[in-house]
Amino acid sequence: MKKLFAINGSPRKNENTAQLLKCAMQGAEEVGAETELVNLYSLNFKGCISCFACKLKNREHGICAVKDDLSPILEQIKQADAIIFGSPIYFMNLTAGMVAFLERLLFSNYLYTIENSSVFPKAMPSAFFYTMNATEEQAQQFRLDDKVAVYDMVTENLLKVKPQRLMAYNTVQFKDYSKYEASMFSEEDKRAYREANWSRLCDEARQIGHNLIEQSI
Ligand SMILES: Cc1cc2nc3c(=O)[nH]c(=O)nc-3n(C[C@H](O)[C@H](O)[C@H](O)COP(=O)(O)O)c2cc1C
Repeated sequence: MKKLFAINGSPRKNENTAQLLKCAMQGAEEVGAETELVNLYSLNFKGCISCFACKLKNREHGICAVKDDLSPILEQIKQADAIIFGSPIYFMNLTAGMVAFLERLLFSNYLYTIENSSVFPKAMPSAFFYTMNATEEQAQQFRLDDKVAVYDMVTENLLKVKPQRLMAYNTVQFKDYSKYEASMFSEEDKRAYREANWSRLCDEARQIGHNLIEQSI
């Protein structure tokens, strides 16, 4: 049976990012795959500590030497067929947890060699899901695409398939906006935007989950 990993880089386990990941998992399950959701913020782990053990000549490659909660997951991912990285946008970047996770996954499978720099054991379809407060226009204004492009580039280099991307703009962040100092947002506008767009986004996520499984070898 094929397997999809969905990595939630939000500290919130049931909000925007997790919801879209669950839609994608449903899509993968509809075509017979098993799925696993990993909530990064429930794990105790660090980013790459730059020990370079993964690049030593006399050592097996593709294995991160740091031993923590992420270690078994990094190994299980190599056995999977597809992976989705979901992250809220924090300060126009991925969350610290997702960056730390990508450092560990991607750098440990990368060699500083001229040829064959990837030691990841297979070609693996993937996708990045991003959720954010910014509207599409604001994201363009801040050149968000350019800022996150590096993760597509590195992932394609290592997993050998160009990642797909889903952007969820103008997300609803609070259950009740009236409780927070948040006058820059209109709760009404946000809820209207969500009402108009969320089911389409969930369908797109479901289709991506489906496609990643179909695309995997
Ligand atoms: C620390 C922090 C920084 C944030 N920075 C941004 C930002 O730079 N741009 C943006 O559009 N949204 C930003 N947001 C909002 C989140 O990206 C947005 O609410 C997202 O959908 C939350 O995902 P979640 O519901 O899965 O937790 C930030 C939120 C937090 C907590």
